[in-house]
Amino acid sequence: MPETPPHEIREEIEKLVRELNYHCYRYYVLDSPVISDAEYDLLYRKLKDIEEKSGYILPDSPTLRVGAPALEKFEKVKHAEPMLSLDNAFSYDEVREFDKRIKKLLNTEEDIEYTVEPKYDGLAIELTYRKGLLFRASTRGDGYEGEDVTRNIRTIKSVPLKIEGQGHIPEEIDIRGEVYMDIKDFEALNRQREKQGEAVFANPRNAAAGSVRQLDPSITAARRLYLACYGLGAVKGIDFLTHSDLMSWLRESRFPTPADMKIVKGVEGVIAFVRVLEAERASYGFETDGAVLKVNDFSLQRKLGVKTREPRWATAYKFQAHQGTTRIMDIQGSVGRTGVITPFAIFEPVRIGGVTVSRSTLHNWDEIGRKDIRIGDTVVVERAGDVIPHVLMVVKEKRTGKERPLPVPENCPACSSRVVRDEGEVAVRCVSLHCPAQVREKIGHFASRGGMDIEGLGEKNVELLYSRGLIRHFEDIYKLRKEYLLELPRFGEKSAQNLMDAIERSKKPLLSKFLFALGILHVGEYVAKLLAKNFRQLEDLYHISYEHIMGIKQMGEKIASSISTFFNDKKNLDLLDVMINVHGLKISNPDFVAGRQEKGSLNGLTFVITGILPKSRKEVERLIEANGGRASSAVSAGTDFLVTGEDPGAKLLKAQALGVRTISYDKLVKLIEEKRENPRLF
Ligand code: IVH
Repeated sequence: MPETPPHEIREEIEKLVRELNYHCYRYYVLDSPVISDAEYDLLYRKLKDIEEKSGYILPDSPTLRVGAPALEKFEKVKHAEPMLSLDNAFSYDEVREFDKRIKKLLNTEEDIEYTVEPKYDGLAIELTYRKGLLFRASTRGDGYEGEDVTRNIRTIKSVPLKIEGQGHIPEEIDIRGEVYMDIKDFEALNRQREKQGEAVFANPRNAAAGSVRQLDPSITAARRLYLACYGLGAVKGIDFLTHSDLMSWLRESRFPTPADMKIVKGVEGVIAFVRVLEAERASYGFETDGAVLKVNDFSLQRKLGVKTREPRWATAYKFQAHQGTTRIMDIQGSVGRTGVITPFAIFEPVRIGGVTVSRSTLHNWDEIGRKDIRIGDTVVVERAGDVIPHVLMVVKEKRTGKERPLPVPENCPACSSRVVRDEGEVAVRCVSLHCPAQVREKIGHFASRGGMDIEGLGEKNVELLYSRGLIRHFEDIYKLRKEYLLELPRFGEKSAQNLMDAIERSKKPLLSKFLFALGILHVGEYVAKLLAKNFRQLEDLYHISYEHIMGIKQMGEKIASSISTFFNDKKNLDLLDVMINVHGLKISNPDFVAGRQEKGSLNGLTFVITGILPKSRKEVERLIEANGGRASSAVSAGTDFLVTGEDPGAKLLKAQALGVRTISYDKLVKLIEEKRENPRLF
C-alpha cells in the first residue's frame, strides 16, 4: 500500500475525479457535453498522471473503467431479490384485460395510475451499490443466479461508478436496467466482423449480450453500449413510494433512464401513450419491441404480488413486428460482377413498418430449397430496423397446389450460357466472358468509389452507355468522347463535360485502387492494398506465380490462384498495356514498403498506436519496425492493427468503423513471438 499522499494532492485528485465523472455524465447520459473531447482528454491525462505518481486512486476514478485483465470464467452471483420477467399483451384488448384483472384483484372500480415506458431489447443487468459505490454488476441468468460481469459493465461510460447528484444515497441498493446497443453501432460492428471473417450478430440484443458476456473486458470496452435503468431489486436505507419516484431519484442520481416515460391514469390513456411510443419507435436509435406498463404505486405492486416468474403489476405490450404477409409473384436471378447468380423474389407489394416492399434477395439457391420457397407461395416477410427485408417463412397452409418450385438455373438469365456450380459451393455462376450483365457490373465496379472513382458513371449511365454500344468493356471508358455523350438523352453540355473531366482525373490512380478496379476474383480492397504493399509497380505482377503470392502473408490459396491466373493471361496483360501506353494511365504506389520481405515476423503488417502504453510511443514504434512491421500515425483501410493502450483516442473509433483489429501492447509482444514460431499465422 502506498502512503496516503498529502492533503493537497488528495484534494486535487478528488476534484479531478468529480469533474471527469460529471463530464462523463453530461456526455453519455444527457448527451449534452459542456467541454470538448480534447479538454476531457487533458483532464483525464492529468488525473492519470497524478494517480500514477501518488499511487492514490479513488474507487470511482474514471481511470478504473479500463485496464482490467481477462478472466478465466465468470463467478456466480445470487440475486438478493429474483430478477423477474414480464407477461405480454399482444393487442389493446389484452391491455384492457390486464387492467381489468388488476382492478379485480385490488377490488376497485377506480382508474389505476400506470407508468408507460419503452421496452429495451438488450440484456438485463443488476447493479449493486454499497455506500454509494458500484460494488458489483451481474447478469440475470436464470433470475435467481447470474454471472459477475462487474469489470465489463464498468467500461460502459453511462454506468455511474458512484451515486452522485442530488439524490439521497442509500446504504445498499440493487438497480436493474437493460444494457443495449444502438442500431447504428450494431450495424457498424457487424460490418467490421464481416470484413474480418467473423460471425455476425443476428440483432442488437445478441450483440449487446455477446459484448457483455466477454471474459476480456477490453472487448466490452471497445463496443459502444448503453444502459437504461427501469427497476429495483433489494434496497436498504431508502424508500420509494412509486415507480415514478424511483425514476426521478435515478435521474437525480445520474443514472440513465428510459427515453420516454409517462404517468397515465386509466387504461385508455395508457393505450393512447402506447400508440405514441409505437409511432416514435422508428425514430429511436435503438430497438424496442414493446412498451412496459407498470402499476405506479409500490404499495399496490406489493399487494398484487408475483405469479410464478412474472409480477402481476406489470406487462409488456408487444409492438407489431416489422413483418408482413404477401405472395411471391416470381423468382428471378440477378447476375453479379463475378458471375454469381443470386435469386430474388418479386412480391405483391406490401407495406411493412411504413415502407413498401416489393422484392427481396433469397440469398442463394440452397436457401430456397431449405425454406421450400415456391413461386405463388404466401410468405412472411420481415424488415428489422433498417435491415433489408428477407423472407422469414412460407405459410404452407395457404398452398393451393398451384405453386411452382424453381429449379436451380442451368442457364444464365442474362446471356443464356450454361452455368457452373463448383463443388462444395452454394454459388451458381455464369462463366461467360461476354455475359452482358457481368460486363455491366464490371464496368460499374471499375468506375466505383473504391476503384477508379469516376463520378457520373453510376449504374444508370453505365446501362445507357452499354446499351448504346459505347462501352463494351471498362477499357472503352477511355475511348469515350464528348461528342458521343452529347447525342445521348441523359447528357447536356455540362454533364458531358463533367463526365469527361472525371474520366481524365481517374487516369492517375493508386496501384491499390487500380488493382481493386480490375475486379479480379477474390481481390477486394484489402487484398488489393496488400498487393500494393508488396509490389513496387503493376508490371512486377506480370507472370507472377501462384507460389510467389502464397509466400505473402495473409494470402490464401484461392486468392493466389486467382491473381496468378489473371496475370498470366496474355489478353489481360495486353489490356493493361493498352490502358497504360495508349490511354496514358499513370499508376503511383505510395503503399509499397521497400525491404519488407526480409525483415521479421511483422513483415507486411501496418500498425497504428493509440492511448497510453506501458512503453513510450517511440519505443513501441521501434519494436514494430525492428520486427519488419510499419508504424503509421493515421488509421486507414490499410492498417492491420491498432495497438490500443489506456484511454484510446478517436483512432479507436476510426479503426472500429474500418474494421481494423485492435490489440494491446502485451498482445503485440506475444504476436511477435508467436509469429516467429509460426510465420503464416495471419
Ligand atoms: S421492468 C418485473 N422495464 O424485459 C420485471 N423491463 O421481457 C421487471 N426490459 O427482464 C422488468 N425494458 O430485461 C422493465 N422498461 C423496462 C424494460 C424491461 C426492457 C426487459 C427486462 C425484463 C424483460 C422481460
